Amino acid sequence: MDAADQNGWSAVAAEWAELWGSFADPARQAVLVEARVGSGSRVLDVGCGSGEFLAMAHALGAVPFGVDPAPGMVSLAHASVPSADIRLRGAEHLPWPDAFFDVVTAFNALQFADDPVIALAEMSRVTAVGGCVAVANWAEGALNDLNVLEAAVAAADDEELLPDGPLRPAGGLETLMRDAGLQVISSGLVEVPWKAPDDETLVRGVLLGEDAAGLAVRGPVVVEAAQPFRVDGGGYILRNAFRWVVARV
Ligand SMILES: C[S@@+](CC[C@H](N)C(=O)[O-])C[C@H]1O[C@@H](n2cnc3c(N)ncnc32)[C@H](O)[C@@H]1O
Repeated sequence: MDAADQNGWSAVAAEWAELWGSFADPARQAVLVEARVGSGSRVLDVGCGSGEFLAMAHALGAVPFGVDPAPGMVSLAHASVPSADIRLRGAEHLPWPDAFFDVVTAFNALQFADDPVIALAEMSRVTAVGGCVAVANWAEGALNDLNVLEAAVAAADDEELLPDGPLRPAGGLETLMRDAGLQVISSGLVEVPWKAPDDETLVRGVLLGEDAAGLAVRGPVVVEAAQPFRVDGGGYILRNAFRWVVARV
């Protein structure tokens, strides 16, 4: 594994893009509107993954920049938005000068930083005064059907799911922003449903990154736990939620 990619995101980049790449679009859409991203806005997406938000910002006429420590993610993001300036780096050290961007975002990424407080300070540093920093993350587990499946897998392994971290509950992101000296201007809860057309896709998505042996053992656990989420006509819909916050620097 690459030293700059200790979480293994490169290894799952293509599968992430295929199965999960667009599920956060409702949160991305809310942030685009609330942060007033438009023609000429200089926008940086931190932990940009396979580049879906960069593509949305680009479609609005913004000038997109991305950063991610996983080479596999960076190359997918480049392929998706060839004109974007995308760099291989973590949130903790952003390779841009102070006050360079109008809007800096992180979707489902801040929790992977070694220290989210330091990462947020760095996101603030590169944002112009009057610009916006926006963060969107999974809401508390109780609002996410995915949690039911992950709890079933953990129980089958004689383990328990870790408790929700501080970024997930209502008010968590707002507190983080205010503690960083930012002024919260809007926030919300948005549904981010995830759909799987069949058992095979369900298992690959929920057990993203598992090897063949892991899929064979845990796949049936996932399928059994997902039965409440089956839909007419086949397949599954997991109803999940993200919280998002937009704050002014
Ligand atoms: C769950 S994916 C989300 C990707 C994308 N933001 C999205 O919404 O689809 C998490 C991303 O965070 C990236 N990441 C991991 N550690 C990070 C860090 N220290 N700073 C910034 N991004 C990081 C991973 O490489 C991965 O692309």
